[in-house]
Amino acid sequence: MVSALTTNVTHFFRENHHFETLRQVVLPPLLEEARRGGRVRLWSAGSSNGQEAYSIAMTIAELAPDFATLNLRILATDIDPLMIEQGAKGSYPAAALEAVPENLRKKYFRKEGEDYQVASNLRGLVQFRELNLHDRWPMRGKFDVIFCRNVVIYFAPAAQALLWERFEEQLTPGGYLFVGHSERVTDGKHSNLRTAGVTTYQLTNRTSRI
Ligand SMILES: C[S@@+](CC[C@H](N)C(=O)[O-])C[C@H]1O[C@@H](n2cnc3c(N)ncnc32)[C@H](O)[C@@H]1O
Repeated sequence: MVSALTTNVTHFFRENHHFETLRQVVLPPLLEEARRGGRVRLWSAGSSNGQEAYSIAMTIAELAPDFATLNLRILATDIDPLMIEQGAKGSYPAAALEAVPENLRKKYFRKEGEDYQVASNLRGLVQFRELNLHDRWPMRGKFDVIFCRNVVIYFAPAAQALLWERFEEQLTPGGYLFVGHSERVTDGKHSNLRTAGVTTYQLTNRTSRI
C-alpha cells in the first residue's frame, strides 16, 4: 500500500549542483577528518531506490579511492520497502544510468543480465533501512550531511517544520542539510540552520540558540 501511495521519482545526480557542493566544499574537510580516524556519516532520507545515495557514494569514491578504509558510511532510508529492497540490490535498468557520466558508469557498475548493478565495494558504503520520517528515529549517532530532497513537499507545513527541527538535532555542528528544489527550510527564530547555497543549509557552530 505504501508503494502505491508514494511517488518514488528519482534519478542519479538529480539537482547536480548539490553534488558539486558536496565535492568542492563539504567532502574535502570530512575526508580529512576520516583519514585522521574520525567518524563521518551521511544520510539520504527519503532515498527512494537508492540512486541519490549511490550518487553520493560515487562522489565520495572519486575524491577518496581509499574510501573503504575509512570510518565513513551512508545511511539510506525510505518508507517504501520495495524501494529499500531495490536500493540494497543496487540494480538499475540501462535507462536509469543515462544521467551517470560514462567514466563513472564504467568504474562503478557491472552488467548483470539486462540491468546494471552498482559495484560491490560501493554498495558496501551504503546501508539501506526502512524508516518513516514521522516515526521515532533509531539512529543514535549524528550526521555530517543529510539529504532530504523532494520528500517533504508531500507533508503538511507543521510536519515539515518539525522535521527541519529534528534534522537540526541530528546534524553535527557545521553539518549540511540539502533539500529539494521546491523546498525551503523555514528560518525560524529558534533554528541554527543557515543558508549555505541553493537549497543548502548549514548548522552554525553556535551552541546557544537565539
Ligand atoms: C520523489 S522521491 C525523492 C527521492 C530522492 N530523495 C530524490 O530527490 O531523488 C520521495 C521519496 O520519499 C519517500 N517518502 C515519502 N514519505 C515518507 C516518509 N514519511 N518517510 C520516509 N520516506 C518517505 C517516498 O517513498 C519516496 O521514495
